[in-house]
Amino acid sequence: MVSLHRRRVLAALAGVSALPLLPSRSSSASQAGLVEANLVAAPARVQLVPPEYPATEAWTYNGALPGPVLRARQGDRLRVHVQNALAEPTTVHWHGIRLPNAMDGVPFITQRPIAPGGSFTYEFALPDAGTFFYHPHQRSYEQVGRGLAGALIVEERTLPQVDRDVLWVLGDYRLNADASVRGGFGNFMDASHAGRIGNSVTLNGRVPTERFHVRAGERVRLRLVNAASARVFALEFRGHEPWVVALDGHPVEPHRPDGGAVVLGPAMRADLILDMTAAPGSRHAVHDGFYRQQAYTFNELQYSDEPPLRARPAEPPRLPPNPLSEPELARADRHRVVFTGGMMGGMGGGMMGGMRGGMAWSVNGIANACGESDVPFEPMLVLRKGRSCVLDLVNDTAWHHPIHLHGHAFRVLMRNGQPTRHREWLDTVMLEPRERAEIAFVADNPGDWMFHCHVLEHQASGMMSCIRVG
Ligand code: C2O
Ligand code: CU
Repeated sequence: MVSLHRRRVLAALAGVSALPLLPSRSSSASQAGLVEANLVAAPARVQLVPPEYPATEAWTYNGALPGPVLRARQGDRLRVHVQNALAEPTTVHWHGIRLPNAMDGVPFITQRPIAPGGSFTYEFALPDAGTFFYHPHQRSYEQVGRGLAGALIVEERTLPQVDRDVLWVLGDYRLNADASVRGGFGNFMDASHAGRIGNSVTLNGRVPTERFHVRAGERVRLRLVNAASARVFALEFRGHEPWVVALDGHPVEPHRPDGGAVVLGPAMRADLILDMTAAPGSRHAVHDGFYRQQAYTFNELQYSDEPPLRARPAEPPRLPPNPLSEPELARADRHRVVFTGGMMGGMGGGMMGGMRGGMAWSVNGIANACGESDVPFEPMLVLRKGRSCVLDLVNDTAWHHPIHLHGHAFRVLMRNGQPTRHREWLDTVMLEPRERAEIAFVADNPGDWMFHCHVLEHQASGMMSCIRVG
C-alpha cells in the first residue's frame, strides 16, 4: 500500500535515533501521502535556560524540547512509531485531530498505556489543515510539565502567500535555582487554584534571549501553540496589528484580536498574519499581560535595516474551510454541563462545592480522574452518532478553564447569552470565571471522547468527563 503513495520523510532534530530513510517519490499534489515519524519519549538534558546556567533534565520526544515538529499535508496519513523510554507508562494524544477513537491516545479508554520499554504505532488520516499539537495523556500534569509536547502542522493543500511560516511553541516550567525541574507535581494547592504556573516561560523550548529578527514589509504567518500545563498567555504585538486567521487550527474570519492581545489558554492555538509595518531598524515588544501583576516582555521584534520588502500589506488571506459538518441548531439535542469546585477567589478562601480524595473539581457533580487508571467510569453524555448537539457550558467557579473536547471541533455560538462575533470553530474553549458558553457540533465521530479542562492539574483532580458517541 505504502509504495503506491508518495512518501515524505520528516526531518527529525539532530541527535536523535535516525529515521529510516524512505525513498521519496514525487507525485501530484492531489494524491494523499504517507508521512512517517518516530518519537522516542525519554529523559534528556536540554538547555532550557540561557547558557550561563546549567542544562535541565527534562522529559522529551527525541531529545528535543519541544518535540520535533511533525509536518504533513491535509489529507495525508500520519504514521508515528512511539517508543517509551521513560520509567513510567505513557501515551500520545493528537490534540485537535479528528481521528478514529482507537488512535486518540487516552490510556485505559482508547488503548493500554505504553509500558516503559514498550512501543505503539499511531496511524490516522489528517482531515483538517491547521496548527495542532501532540502530548501525553497519561499523568499529563507531570509528563507535559516536564517537557513532553510538540507541534503537528497540517498544511493547506494550497498554502497562503506569506514570506515566512513561523512556529512559536509557548511553554512554562517551574524550575529550581539550578535550572532543574521542581517536583511537587499534582499537589493540592496547584490543583485547587490556577494549576501549576511556572517561573520560566519558554519560546520553542528556551527562555527567549534572542530577539525575533524581521524585515520591514515582510508578512509572517505566526503559528502559536500554548503547550503549557496551566499558564495563560495574552500576547500583544506592540506597534503591530496582527490578523487572527485561524483558531485551534480552523480558519476564522480574519480579525484583529479583541482588546489587542491574543489570549491563549493551555492547548489553544492561533494562526496570525503579522505584517511588519514598522520602520527598518526599529524594535518592538511582544508583551504578555495576562497576569496583570506579572506582565512582562515575552520577546522583541527586531527590524533589520533593510528597506521594506513591500510598501503596504495586502489583504489578509482567507484560509480554505476545513470539512466540518455544520450543526443543525433547530434540531439539536441540548445539554447543560456545569463545572464546579476550586478555592474561592478573594477573602473567603473556602472550597466551593464538595471535595473528596484529592479531587478539587467536578463536572455535572462528578469528580472523575478517568483516563488515569483503569477504574471503569460512566460517560457523562451519550450522543447518537450523526446528531447535532448544543452544550451549554457553565463555569460555576472563580477560575479560568480551557475546556477541550476530543475527536471533534465545535462552534462557539454564545458567550454569556450574547452571540459570538465569529462563531469560531475550536477544540478548546476558554471559560472565564463565572462565564457561560454555548457550543455546537455534530457528533459524527463514534467512540468515547474525553471532555475536560486543559489546565492539567484540574483535569487530574476532577475536571474530566467523557462523551460517548455511538
Ligand atoms: Cu490536549 Cu485531552 O487533551
Ligand atoms: Cu480548569
